Amino acid sequence: MQDHSMPVSGRREVLLGSLAIASTLILPATVRAQSRTLVVTPAQTPGPFYPDQFPSDVDNDLVLLRGAEARAEGTITHVMGHVLDLRGQPVPGAQVEIWQCDAHGRYLHRADRGTRPRDTAFQGYGRTTTGGDGAYRFRTIRPVAYPGRTPHIHFAVRAPDRPVLATQMYVAGEPLNERDGLYASLRDPRQRAAVTVRLTEASGIENGALAGTFDIVLAG
Ligand SMILES: [Fe+2]
Repeated sequence: MQDHSMPVSGRREVLLGSLAIASTLILPATVRAQSRTLVVTPAQTPGPFYPDQFPSDVDNDLVLLRGAEARAEGTITHVMGHVLDLRGQPVPGAQVEIWQCDAHGRYLHRADRGTRPRDTAFQGYGRTTTGGDGAYRFRTIRPVAYPGRTPHIHFAVRAPDRPVLATQMYVAGEPLNERDGLYASLRDPRQRAAVTVRLTEASGIENGALAGTFDIVLAG
């Protein structure tokens, strides 16, 4: 007996969708990158709040500080991607650093004069190194706005024999993006797209968390 619970076209979409996901997982980054036009990730100011003192823990999980029981406030967000060169080749051995304000809008920096209390459970800064496939990942919180800025995560990428790239990652769909001076300074829509990441449910990674992919393309 035929199952009429889902139209045939619907089934086909589901099947194609799962194949698309499967191929995304199977194809190496280089092949995926070559299937689209790569845009060099635009440089953006590191801003004034690169930590003046590193936290006790500088790993790639900013939600948990070693030795602390509480977890950071905010929506847990997995940010992952590949560091690539302009030909789409992975860049291994690149140090990727991120820093961002906590859920109260406070940075891990003595010059941050915000009046709200700092979330001492938030690491505020983390670093990792890309593997042979150029991949990196962080577990952090969804960035929040603070006065004058749309939500963003600062990145610095130090790859062997290349200049340091400082940039910022933005969240797709954030209404404040269009009013943010640094975001607006990216006049080329392709450059904006290169630093704008869609965050979706981190299904299969962590319940209740978000996830997004931010590939970083180095010049040359
Ligand atoms: Fe900032």
